[in-house]
Amino acid sequence: MNEFIPKGYEKENGEKVESIVNDETGRFFFLTNRKFENDINQTFSNLPSLAIEKLKKERGENEPITILDVGAGIDAKSAGQIAEKYGNEKDERVRVFGVDLTARKNEQGGLNQIIGDALQLPLQDNSVDIAYSRMALSLIAEMDPDNLEKGLSEVARTLKQGGVFFVDKTFSEKMEKSVDVEKFQKLGEELGVVFYTKETGLFFGTFEKLLKKMKNEYPDWKFLIMAKKPINEDLMKALSLNDKDTV
Ligand SMILES: C[S@@+](CC[C@H](N)C(=O)[O-])C[C@H]1O[C@@H](n2cnc3c(N)ncnc32)[C@H](O)[C@@H]1O
Repeated sequence: MNEFIPKGYEKENGEKVESIVNDETGRFFFLTNRKFENDINQTFSNLPSLAIEKLKKERGENEPITILDVGAGIDAKSAGQIAEKYGNEKDERVRVFGVDLTARKNEQGGLNQIIGDALQLPLQDNSVDIAYSRMALSLIAEMDPDNLEKGLSEVARTLKQGGVFFVDKTFSEKMEKSVDVEKFQKLGEELGVVFYTKETGLFFGTFEKLLKKMKNEYPDWKFLIMAKKPINEDLMKALSLNDKDTV
């Protein structure tokens, strides 16, 4: 496990612990999934479910919908929640994958846990509709800022056209500090994607109302959306707010 513990975080020798702490910053790193009070939808303000539901309406009877959790955790709990709600036991079209360096495989139906590296995803090009990463890509980026680009590139490669990726920035101070509009725009062009995030100011048009709502209702809101071109306008519209929603 030690290979993915970020520098500065110490684990006492031999002692079995759930989390480790950085003495200088007091930050935590969880070795196993913590028990989140909020599910993955709350982390991303319900956007993953909205996106899945929209795609379920859009897609034909035999067209698969693939969901990917990047750095899903040893037990892939959040992917498990999504699988329970939408997985192929409920709807044959929906396939849920969780990729992590470690996996304690559980036998949950509809959930596919894959042992693999987020920076070298063991998935084919253009195969994923909706991806998300909570406390994983941001953590990997914290270890080395270049990992952010690598991770985003890998997800962009695996996303289908119109596919969307949600990634939180919980751990990543470097990610916050290194936010650079030009860099993101350049990366977006290279990868054939559009980024939406309030920090870069790249959050425009489509999500303006959503942004205002989040600012009011979720002051700690910190995540980035990456959508692969050509953008699925209907999907993006479904993720933004309707006129009747208050801001
Ligand atoms: C804090 S946990 C978050 C787990 C899960 N996303 C959640 O929200 O419950 C961070 C996870 O990132 C995984 N991880 C770290 N580096 C990774 C890499 N290069 N590729 C895949 N997973 C990685 C760890 O194994 C760990 O399970």
